[in-house]
Parts: sequence; C-alpha cells; structure tokens
Amino acid sequence: MADDLLVAEGLSKVYFDVIPTPALTDVSFSLASGEFASVIGRSGSGKSTLLNLVGLLDTPTSGSLHLNGRDTAGLDRVARARMRNTFVGFVFQFHHLLPEFSVIENVCMPALIRGEAWNAELRQRARVTLDMLDLGEVAEKNANETSGGQRQRVAIARALMNRPQLVLADEPTGNLDTENSALVYELFRKVNLEWGTAFLIVTHDPTIAQQADRILEISDGRLQRDVAVPGVSAAADEQARS
Ligand SMILES: Nc1ncnc2c1ncn2[C@@H]1O[C@H](COP(=O)(O)OP(=O)(O)OP(=O)(O)O)[C@@H](O)[C@H]1O
Ligand SMILES: [Mg+2]
Repeated sequence: MADDLLVAEGLSKVYFDVIPTPALTDVSFSLASGEFASVIGRSGSGKSTLLNLVGLLDTPTSGSLHLNGRDTAGLDRVARARMRNTFVGFVFQFHHLLPEFSVIENVCMPALIRGEAWNAELRQRARVTLDMLDLGEVAEKNANETSGGQRQRVAIARALMNRPQLVLADEPTGNLDTENSALVYELFRKVNLEWGTAFLIVTHDPTIAQQADRILEISDGRLQRDVAVPGVSAAADEQARS
C-alpha cells in the first residue's frame, strides 16, 4: 500500500553463535502511517530481534524490509544510519540518560552529536517536545535529579526530537510502576493522535498491549497472531477531543 511505512516480507534472522539460533522466521506484516501496534510474546520469542531489524540496528538473514517505500537492502551504511536517525525513534527499557547533563541537554544530545548547533531553534524544538511529555518544569534539572518515571519520559522526548514517523519501543514500561506505565501509554497515544506518529511497542504489560489498535504476537520466532483490537482507536479519539 502506498501509505505503508513499513513492509516486512519473510523476515528471518539466524544468530550464528556457537550453534545457529533461528531467532525470527518468515515474519511478514506491514504497518501503515499512524498505526499504533503492540508486539507481545514470551521471553526469547524474538520480539527484540524483530524491533532491531525493523529499526535497522541489525540486518536480516533473509527476507526484505521496505521503510517508507524504500528497499532497505539497497542502502549503504551511511544511508542506513541516516534513515535510522530521521525515520525511527527508539525507546528502550533502560533510558541511558547522561546523569550529569540537564534534561534539555539530554534531549538534544543526539542532535548535537549529529552536528546540529546548540541554538535557539534546537532548544525550542526540545521545549515543545518536553512540553508534549509534561516535562517542561524539569527541563533545566540534571537528569539525576528527576524521578524514574520522568527519566523514562525524557528518553521518550529524546526519541521524538526528530519527529520520527515511527517509534519503536522495547519494553518502555518494563521498569516503571503501574501509574507511570499508564502515563507512558497516555503520552504515546497523545503523540500518536496529535503528530500522527506510528508506534510499535514491545510489551509484557497486558494493559498496554490491549490498548493498542493492533496486537502482533510472536511465538518461537514466528508471527503467530496479528489482530485488530476493536474500538480502541475510536475511544482514544473521543478522549482526545474531550
Ligand atoms: N546477539 C545474539 N546472539 C545470539 N543469540 C541471540 C542474540 N540476541 C538474541 N538471541 C537469541 O534469539 C532469540 C530471540 O531473542 P530476543 O531477544 O529477540 O527475544 P525477546 O522476545 O525480545 O525476549 P525478552 O522478552 O526476554 O526480551 C533467543 O533465543 C535469544 O537467545
Ligand atoms: Mg527483548
């Protein structure tokens, strides 16, 4: 489909360790612009492997992956890095913030490393992103002076700085209590509805999985189930309007 952000066809990954481990086998699915999907499955079933392939952190053993209509097999190392940096935002279970830097500096860090200048435009973009995640008040605090829930939201803000079309989150609430997990879900949904960002969220949290519009279940490296969750999107729209 023309508006597919991501099309995976027969995606497979074998890790050639001491013995070859087939981590992902023949996975095919597509994700449209603005979709909000969760990925579930037992530990070791291949969820992180799938996310790493889709986010161009790793290459498949076989199969194809198109992102934004482009066959990623044809991209050289530089083009892959560029696509990873501009098209995708990553959120992991462990946020890896730099504790001695302020929240706003942490959020800007990837941009600074890429060579963007520490100027008013960059800081304004960071401010808007932090406000979106209810972090405006802690922008100037050092990262190590914020709470665990706030730190994870800072990591989310950092992932959103480039306004990626797709956010890949690998157990983003794995370290959070129920309240902060619910907040992360709400903020993902807000970004999804207001900015049209697509989400693919690996989660062990059934509450979050059930609140996605679609659930992909991986079992033993295979896509076992791919189902739409009825009514969630409409309810979220309703909530956003009220
Ligand atoms: N770098 C690697 N080298 C070798 N084997 C790996 C590597 N990464 C993952 N595996 C193996 O691939 C399989 C899938 O791992 P993966 O990390 O994708 O699972 P997961 O579904 O994310 O699990 P969890 O829920 O525990 O995070 C497992 O058998 C794992 O041991
Ligand atoms: Mg994993």
